Amino acid sequence: MHYVLDMWMNVILGHQRQNDNNLKNSKCFFMIKNKFHNLGIIVICILHFGCASAQKTISKTVSLRESFKKYFLIGTAINVRQIEEKDTNAAKLIPEQFSAVTPENIMKAEVIHPKWDTYNFDLADKLVAYGKKYNIKINAHTLIWHSQLPAFMRHMKDADSVKQYFTDHIKTVASRYDGKVFSWDVVNEALEEDGSMRKSIFLEKLGPDFVTEAFRLAQQAAPNTQLYYNDYNIEQPKKRAGAIALIKKIQAAGVRIDGVGIQGHWRAYNIPLKDIEESIIEFSALGIKVMFTELDLGVLPNPWDSDAADVNMKAEYSAKMNPYANGLPDSMQTKLTKGYEDLFKLFLKYKDKIGRITFWGVNDGQSWLNDWPIRGRTNYPLLFDRNFKPKPAFDAVIKLKK
Ligand code: XIL
Repeated sequence: MHYVLDMWMNVILGHQRQNDNNLKNSKCFFMIKNKFHNLGIIVICILHFGCASAQKTISKTVSLRESFKKYFLIGTAINVRQIEEKDTNAAKLIPEQFSAVTPENIMKAEVIHPKWDTYNFDLADKLVAYGKKYNIKINAHTLIWHSQLPAFMRHMKDADSVKQYFTDHIKTVASRYDGKVFSWDVVNEALEEDGSMRKSIFLEKLGPDFVTEAFRLAQQAAPNTQLYYNDYNIEQPKKRAGAIALIKKIQAAGVRIDGVGIQGHWRAYNIPLKDIEESIIEFSALGIKVMFTELDLGVLPNPWDSDAADVNMKAEYSAKMNPYANGLPDSMQTKLTKGYEDLFKLFLKYKDKIGRITFWGVNDGQSWLNDWPIRGRTNYPLLFDRNFKPKPAFDAVIKLKK
């Protein structure tokens, strides 16, 4: 700012000096000099106030990260192009808006541990460097999950081999990133909708204690990392009861669990606010932090009228199921805005119990909900539109900050 002012001073006064020389002997020298002087002052004032207000808008970029920094971390899921900062708009927006990131895919087993003795750490290492560069906390996702497993182990018959992969995987990956990532989703989606254990290769080959064992191994490998259980629909009473039982079992075994992640893939027109509130209260009563880890509010119809975010669920495309391909009508935009507003009111009410709110993606164009559970739809679930512009829902959320 001062540099800019100095520059303009020099231009104006330099101009004046030149005129001074030419007019040195003129009778009207003093009159004109005064005129120039006054003009100079006026120009400087305009520039000064102009620059000051421009600077004000720059330094006052409205940011989720800043607005909620006293209460909880605000995160987003990021993809490879974003980690590598190849996506220019995202490269600017992410560090400005978010204080936490979750890798959308690159720390899943099929990517990071594709063969018995092969680990691909390159992208996860880049992610760690990215977090350091922008002072962004990393929630690593995820150690043990039935989906996105490497091909060679997906159909493993032998229980000992599964156990070996399970143990090696947790030990190797969790210890490498201990102290480098802030937290781990140690186990993802181990429950069915009725609260029983999900039928997966881990349940089948290792038995129902595999969740406790995963946390025990993670605790040994990553003593400096927060350890979480993560799932969708665990705000629903039956599944919530299953999750509470699972967490109590881990605690009863003397194993550390620091938090629970409620994914939060809800529909904008059907948010289970009461269940969410009860869940925050009940989970935090177990002495752990509550996180909302994959928040997005879909606006499209669901083929099964369900909130289950099971990645294996798939349905056929039809134009009827893609009603907003040419833009979101105001009525739905309003619902989305109200949905986010209601949710953040609730989050703020329980800010002492909540550690982080993470959106599943940066902008609408990058959301997995454009391709799940039906490929090729146009969804609008996040706070930034396809051009990275904040949506009315963003403004509504920011306004709630006290
Ligand atoms: C999704 C990713 O967003 C997609 O890119 C990928 O194809 C499938 O997985 N619950 C989870 C996330 O825990 O890991 C899933 O992410 C979405 C549902």
